[in-house]
Amino acid sequence: MSLISASGVSKNYKTKDYTVAALKETSLNVEKGEAVAVIGPSGSGKSTLLNIIGLIIKPDSGSVTFDGESTSGFGDKRLSAFRNANFGYITQDFALLDGETVYTNIRLPLIYNKSIKRSEHKKRIFDAAERMGISDKLTRRVSRLSGGERQRVAIARAIVCDQPIILADEPTGSLDAENRDSVVNTLVSLAHDNGSAVIIVTHDLSVAERCDRVIRMKDGTTMITGSEK
Ligand SMILES: Nc1ncnc2c1ncn2[C@@H]1O[C@H](COP(=O)(O)OP(=O)(O)O)[C@@H](O)[C@H]1O
Ligand SMILES: [Mg+2]
Repeated sequence: MSLISASGVSKNYKTKDYTVAALKETSLNVEKGEAVAVIGPSGSGKSTLLNIIGLIIKPDSGSVTFDGESTSGFGDKRLSAFRNANFGYITQDFALLDGETVYTNIRLPLIYNKSIKRSEHKKRIFDAAERMGISDKLTRRVSRLSGGERQRVAIARAIVCDQPIILADEPTGSLDAENRDSVVNTLVSLAHDNGSAVIIVTHDLSVAERCDRVIRMKDGTTMITGSEK
């Protein structure tokens, strides 16, 4: 059974004047320990699919299950607890609190995680920062960091609760080649060494080819590419 299974998922965005069919009965399965790249042109539905898997938006039809369990009946409270415990989400703009310290930023998901004791926070924050090579910067304000360092904070925050699923939307879009390689190495090693399921949406073929599998999207549907290993 796949850890993540999105099956026959469709999503329309309705505006006043028109409807965009962003996803058309598309499917994606991801296993534990696997790093999967999702590539495809702008507007092909990559972010929509990632947001549906991350339970940020609901599909119009189709199902998303985790370890065989459907989340479609979850109420808002249960949904946000599930989201917080299970997903580490990394976006291109990092979505960090600029005026706050590295420590405070990494801590955010811990504050909402009821199953991790407060007394464990400090150690977890330190460990996540150390893994990302920023443990000497915990007291710095995020606004004072370089792009590569900010990205490391975003990843540290995505792993601080041992979230089993890492969703990254264009995580290397604003990085130079060296930082890009380091971020991809880290994400792939989360899959291979920690057993996380990692999904990376990317425009960058050099990022995609480092993953175990590449899914190409076109016009709102997934297609398996020949680069599957
Ligand atoms: N909130 C929204 N309202 C209306 N249309 C949207 C919205 N979000 C995305 N879309 C449209 O849905 C399609 C898929 O978007 P998206 O999933 O962001 O694609 P990608 O990430 O591959 O660029 C695009 O045509 C986009 O313009
Ligand atoms: Mg996108």
